[in-house]
Amino acid sequence: MLKKVRVFDLQVGMYVVDTGLSWLDHPYLYCQEGPVESDDHIRAIRAEGFAEAFIETDRDALAQGAARIYDKEAIDRAVAEALCEIPAELKSNKNTPLAQEMREAARAHAASIAAVRLAMEAAASGAPVDAKACLDAARDIAASVMRNRDALVCLTRLHDGGGYHIRHCAGVSALSAAFGDYLGLDRGQVADLALAGLLHDIGKALAPRELLEKPGKLSPEEFALLKRHPVEGCTLVSGASGVVGAPGGPTVPGHVLRAIAEHHERHDGSGYPRGLKGSEQSLFGRILAIADVFDALTQDRPYKKRLLPDKAMSVMFALRGRDHEPALLERFIKAVGVYPTGSLVRLSSGEHAVVGESNPHTPLRPKVTVVFDQDMAPIHPVQFDLSGRDGPAPARPVEVTGIIDHRPHGIRAGEHLL
Ligand SMILES: [Fe+2]
Repeated sequence: MLKKVRVFDLQVGMYVVDTGLSWLDHPYLYCQEGPVESDDHIRAIRAEGFAEAFIETDRDALAQGAARIYDKEAIDRAVAEALCEIPAELKSNKNTPLAQEMREAARAHAASIAAVRLAMEAAASGAPVDAKACLDAARDIAASVMRNRDALVCLTRLHDGGGYHIRHCAGVSALSAAFGDYLGLDRGQVADLALAGLLHDIGKALAPRELLEKPGKLSPEEFALLKRHPVEGCTLVSGASGVVGAPGGPTVPGHVLRAIAEHHERHDGSGYPRGLKGSEQSLFGRILAIADVFDALTQDRPYKKRLLPDKAMSVMFALRGRDHEPALLERFIKAVGVYPTGSLVRLSSGEHAVVGESNPHTPLRPKVTVVFDQDMAPIHPVQFDLSGRDGPAPARPVEVTGIIDHRPHGIRAGEHLL
């Protein structure tokens, strides 16, 4: 089982887990994965100023190393129990079939990547940011997720091209908009969330690239410099520095600016820049913060391999109440699904399937298309609803046992999602 401990309580033989959480948000979290080897090792960790670490308490997992660092069953149980307490689905997701929406979603995704690239390049060079391109892209994102929440989120999950920072902004935008739609926000609010996602990290365009891609621990000075990006982004977008557009040009709403400024605030007040607690952080800021962490954990970064979505959900769930408001985080998991659309999963039957539509009532039992046998050999695709609620269930009960990386198996975005 995953457990957070004080570095003071570390003992030789404990197994430290790399959760993939950002240095910026968790500067005192030690996350060099592996066993604690000696008292000297512990002294060195303390001397470097770390205060906490995640360890794996399961002795079997300890013996087997990193392959079983997460107690999946315990996490699944806890997630399922938490999600059961949430009342009926807030908003359905059946306006347009997934396969039909994929083409429009692909257009919206390409436009969002282009708009973010333009905005980042302009901000970095001191030229005016093209707010109109981002506003247009945000409207298209809102329209797509309101027709079908899964299509665009799936594309951003499977898209590997472009630089991390641009890909990340597009991903946060899609996730924030889809979550806003799930919460029942109106079209204008969903578009504003999409816009906040596209622009949330634009302040990083002012930071040196080597700092953004530094693999090791940041110095206090470097840390302080990077922590300025939410406020600098807000200033850039608000036009206070004269960067956004000409007089009379498009304006960015105040609640979008506030969300950009608040996307690194944390539920318990440990975030930055203001250390806001609980509802002092706006709803848009809280949504953006959740989408930001989930997307960062599940994308390859210059210095860190990505986590698969179910493991990222586990890490975030373990930190609920500290980083994010528990009820809102649980709704996010329900909206996106523990096994998001487009994920390649292994089934308890040994076969492999691609997750189709998310199943908000039963996020652990999505709709799937079985496409590979036990040995990853292609088979005639068969669709099942593992919950049996809205389509044929397998003849014998079958569960998802975990997500596996789609890339070594050559699966492309949108494939098998019929
Ligand atoms: Fe950020």
